Amino acid sequence: MHKDMEKVLITQEEIQEAAKRLAAQIERDYAGEDSIVFVGLLKGSVQFMADLLKNIDMMCTIDFICVSSYGKGTKSTGRVNIIKDLSEPIDEKNVIIVEDIIDSGNTLNFIKKYFSAKNAKSVRICTLLNKPERREIEIDVDYVGFDVSDEFVVGYGLDYKEYYRNLPYIGVLKPEIYE
Ligand code: IMP
Ligand code: MG
Repeated sequence: MHKDMEKVLITQEEIQEAAKRLAAQIERDYAGEDSIVFVGLLKGSVQFMADLLKNIDMMCTIDFICVSSYGKGTKSTGRVNIIKDLSEPIDEKNVIIVEDIIDSGNTLNFIKKYFSAKNAKSVRICTLLNKPERREIEIDVDYVGFDVSDEFVVGYGLDYKEYYRNLPYIGVLKPEIYE
């Protein structure tokens, strides 16, 4: 795995610091609220979700949803397919979506609307990485670990062809791997 990396972009230590910072922000913002549910987007959010949750010192529940966007290659079309839905109702709940990376914004735009239609009390987004240059749909991102430039990254949950999700850092793949 490691030999396929051109460079390490973000270390595990930096990610864990970001998780602490975001958790503290979330705790402040949700003080006095109840019915808080963290919803992780499978599969990319798993590593970050675990770090974030360990630092959340308040009553909450967790759930997961798995979606895939239709479309070939690296561009998503905005049409999203639910592969695994939530396991509990979210009506009147304060939902915090946990995502690995926001790219075009299409996936999160769909999910935010879907959750609002299910009568969530509030829906906010917490993402490890954000690629603002690639945005196709304007979307409010409430909690961001790191802004990254427009290069393909893997690790810490993020994959290339389903591999590299288990890397303990965010890395940039060597171009020859995906060319
Ligand atoms: P969006 O709908 O275009 O925002 O798609 C976001 C999804 O695309 C993420 O959840 C990732 O699965 C995937 N993605 C976008 N950029 C990258 C990347 O640099 N590496 C790995 N996956 C990515
Ligand atoms: Mg993903």
